[in-house]
Amino acid sequence: MTKLEELRRELAHLPPAHPERRTAVVPAMQALQAEYGHLDDAAVAEVADLTGLSTTEVEELATFYSLIYRRPPGRHVLQVCDSVCCGLRGADRLLATAEKTNGVPLGEVTPDGALSVLPSICLGLCDRAPAALLDGEALGPLDEAALAALLGRLRGGE
Ligand code: FES
Repeated sequence: MTKLEELRRELAHLPPAHPERRTAVVPAMQALQAEYGHLDDAAVAEVADLTGLSTTEVEELATFYSLIYRRPPGRHVLQVCDSVCCGLRGADRLLATAEKTNGVPLGEVTPDGALSVLPSICLGLCDRAPAALLDGEALGPLDEAALAALLGRLRGGE
């Protein structure tokens, strides 16, 4: 049983206005994203239906959380932390390097579909600042040269 099926089953037992429905919004977004790869408008509507929130509320939350993708991401997703610890240790230079190396703005997928680089709030890796997550795997501390090499590897055939 997938997480989504599990969640649907759990929520089916709750009355429509039960407060627990609303608290399931993040797990619901994660479960639908795991199923479909990103959260398109139909998935936003399904989250709204599951949780009792409006589609506008779900849309706002989906836009707020950097780990929820409203459009299909690249085959690899690199999240670069730009919160305080990483910011003090050069996160802005890493993000500029990523943009320059990939030739697309942050958040956009490279033309080959290989990669999305996303600025992110604290990843919980402050002791490794400046830090990043590549497809969920912790990286850091990173410098511009190591990042450029990594991006080259990711775009050059995985
Ligand atoms: S501030 Fe970057 S991982 Fe915490």
